[in-house]
Amino acid sequence: MAEPQRVVAAPVLWQEPPPTLRPAASESRWQRVVVLVLRPLWSLRVEIAVVLVLGLMWAAVASDLGVSWTAVFAVGCTSLGARSAGLRRWVRGVFHRARLRRQWMVAVRYAGLATINDRVPKAVSIRAVAAGDEVRVRVPAGSNVSLVAERAETIAAFLEVQDVRVARDRDNARWATVSVVRCDPLSGQEAVAWPWVDAGQLSLWEAVPVGITESGELATVVLPGHSMAIGGEPGGGKSNAESVIVATAALDPSVRLWLLDGKEGVEFAQWRGCAHRFVTSDLDEAIAVLGEARDEMEARYRYLLDTGKRKVEREDGLGLELVVVDELAVYLAAERKESKEFAWLLRDLVARGRAAGVIVVAATQKPSADVVPTSLRDLMGYRWAFRCSTPQASDTILGQGWASQGWSATAVDAADRGVGYLLHEGGRPVHVKACYLSDSDLASIACRAEALRRGSVLRVVDPLEASS
Ligand SMILES: Nc1ncnc2c1ncn2[C@@H]1O[C@H](COP(=O)(O)OP(=O)(O)OP(=O)(O)O)[C@@H](O)[C@H]1O
Ligand SMILES: [Mg+2]
Repeated sequence: MAEPQRVVAAPVLWQEPPPTLRPAASESRWQRVVVLVLRPLWSLRVEIAVVLVLGLMWAAVASDLGVSWTAVFAVGCTSLGARSAGLRRWVRGVFHRARLRRQWMVAVRYAGLATINDRVPKAVSIRAVAAGDEVRVRVPAGSNVSLVAERAETIAAFLEVQDVRVARDRDNARWATVSVVRCDPLSGQEAVAWPWVDAGQLSLWEAVPVGITESGELATVVLPGHSMAIGGEPGGGKSNAESVIVATAALDPSVRLWLLDGKEGVEFAQWRGCAHRFVTSDLDEAIAVLGEARDEMEARYRYLLDTGKRKVEREDGLGLELVVVDELAVYLAAERKESKEFAWLLRDLVARGRAAGVIVVAATQKPSADVVPTSLRDLMGYRWAFRCSTPQASDTILGQGWASQGWSATAVDAADRGVGYLLHEGGRPVHVKACYLSDSDLASIACRAEALRRGSVLRVVDPLEASS
């Protein structure tokens, strides 16, 4: 096809034309037929097929009943069909997909994604999702998914949608899933109740519900073996998200809570009675507590060595250790050598805690490399970015490159507290609104958790002592 070589179809009179370096390609008659006739016809195939089928049906019925009775019959059938919501939705879906497929083909062409032999990334299938549409795209030979991702903004502008996100298939580089985002279903939503708000006793070994996704499903996290980094602007909902995890841990009497609250203890005040260690912004005390947690981790490693196991499991009877740090920057941003020691201890807990049943959850309102260095972030299995002011801040939490692919927490509206992107290692960020725990919910859960912890004799037979 000669199309990609065309220079300027109609030069604009009042602008200096740029020097033409390539001669305008001369198209053959066949090429013109393809570009001007066959291609538009093919892109309108669904509509043409519908008109043809209806026309044939009209002709068949009209030959028996005559035109007037056929018109009456057609009106009757249409009004009957229009009554069925399912049928209406199906018809709308068929035309919507046909239109989007057509728009996609033009959008990728305008975005300069046609290959040298004039093939474009093809929308193979389209599925409606709560935020818009999910398109399975196959890139042509000679192209790749990264090129489509690079032009996502141009495609989004052509389609006049909020965002276009491109995720390459893990198994097949030829395929991508493209999310065409038209609205944010989580925006303006009421607070989401935590499903376990009235639970008597829980287990941190289970998947913990932490929020709802765009499609209304529960978003869960499985914490044993994974740590979590949380970041976002002040008021984004970080402490509330941490509270959901701490609440689960508090209602599991086998879990020991190590709480470090850089905000002078106000965020975790409710959990003081359940905490094994509770630290405010005192850096020296925080280092001592992390050191103690590290000793516990070492003891667990000795237990694993003695018993010939590779990781702590539920059946071992060793509870999990949950270390939660709210406002990392308070401990890490100080220009003191103690901050380095704190950073080293935290990194060690995250790196080696996985097998020993030590989980670290750390939050910061300053998602920058000095607070969450890549070396620490990359060890965290879960990353949760609430609203961020820059794509760099969002990437500091989620990982390099997600913002440019369309997953940026800058897109979250400042009014939408608790909305963010939750990423599990190896997956794609999921748009989530966190479950909300009000002060009274927290007070009631903390009260139950304290009673539970008082009632249960913790670590009756401590496997660590038994093995030594
Ligand atoms: N999931 C949620 N649903 C509804 N409202 C929420 C949610 N999360 C937080 N909020 C609201 O936002 C306010 C701030 O939340 P939170 O204290 O968790 O933010 P933060 O990110 O920890 O802020 P800071 O950085 O200042 O500590 C809460 O008081 C609450 O009113
Ligand atoms: Mg907070």
